[in-house]
Amino acid sequence: MDFTTSIAGVRFPSCFMNAAGARCVTREELETLGRSQAGAIVTKSMTLEPRQGNPEPRYYAFTNGSINSMGLPNLGYRAYAALIPELRRFGKPIVASVAGFGEEDFVTIATAINASKPDLIEVNLSCPNIPGEPQIGYDADVTERLLKRVRKVVTTPMGVKLPPYFDPAHQDKMAQILDRVGVEFLSVINSVGNGLVVDLEKESVVIKPKGGFGGLGGPLIKPMALANVRAFWKLFGGRVPIIGTGGIASGGDAFEHLLCGASAVQVGTAFVEEGTGVFERLESELAVVLGKKGYDSASACVGKLKEL
Ligand code: DHB
Repeated sequence: MDFTTSIAGVRFPSCFMNAAGARCVTREELETLGRSQAGAIVTKSMTLEPRQGNPEPRYYAFTNGSINSMGLPNLGYRAYAALIPELRRFGKPIVASVAGFGEEDFVTIATAINASKPDLIEVNLSCPNIPGEPQIGYDADVTERLLKRVRKVVTTPMGVKLPPYFDPAHQDKMAQILDRVGVEFLSVINSVGNGLVVDLEKESVVIKPKGGFGGLGGPLIKPMALANVRAFWKLFGGRVPIIGTGGIASGGDAFEHLLCGASAVQVGTAFVEEGTGVFERLESELAVVLGKKGYDSASACVGKLKEL
């Protein structure tokens, strides 16, 4: 089965990769991804300075998903700028995820990371876990101003990691902004922000930061992810490639994302839970689904969702 895909002219040996944030902070984690079956190496969202992140426990998995409030633990952009050329030796695309605490940060980081030549730059507009900081992607004006500045300094194919939207008007507005700015791909969706999970035995929250509120991932967010992938695929008429993220725990889940319009998929919670073996498992499960349905490649079913 052919799992290769292409995004913004970059060829991926497999359509499965890690989601930014999932086991991709340290050199060791990034090298492990390099050696794995994953079709790309996606970095943790990087900030200006290195960060320890929020106090633990800050990630918790339960039956239907996960909740996290990591607080952007990362090595700082200088370390990733130095690492990216070294990660080239694994011969697969490198996707640099860029975050920040203000427009200036994004511009500084994007400039330096662009110079280190990753294959794609994913601008994270959707970190929900920094106390006192709203998600950029929920503010249309800030998003447009920020992206116009970042766009000017980035020559690498650039995309955005979007938060989930729950209203078509918000998706329309964001699509118009992204059209004006010009982005080469979309990663859809980030975690569903500010959920709350309760341990009824302990009568307690399950993570420490922010009183237990955190970003939800895993199977429970799949319908929100599929809806956003589909909505943006339609809004752009299939012309802007989409990396689908959210709730991919089986080959069938990946197939659903492809049908909705994703050209590749990122795996967060399932990768954290299973490690790199998840990429082989998902490929073999997707091979069975595609084979049964008569598709000879993953790319053949992209966007083919039927409507009634
Ligand atoms: C974190 C979580 C996110 O969902 C994200 O997009 C960026 C950062 C975090 O808490 O580290």
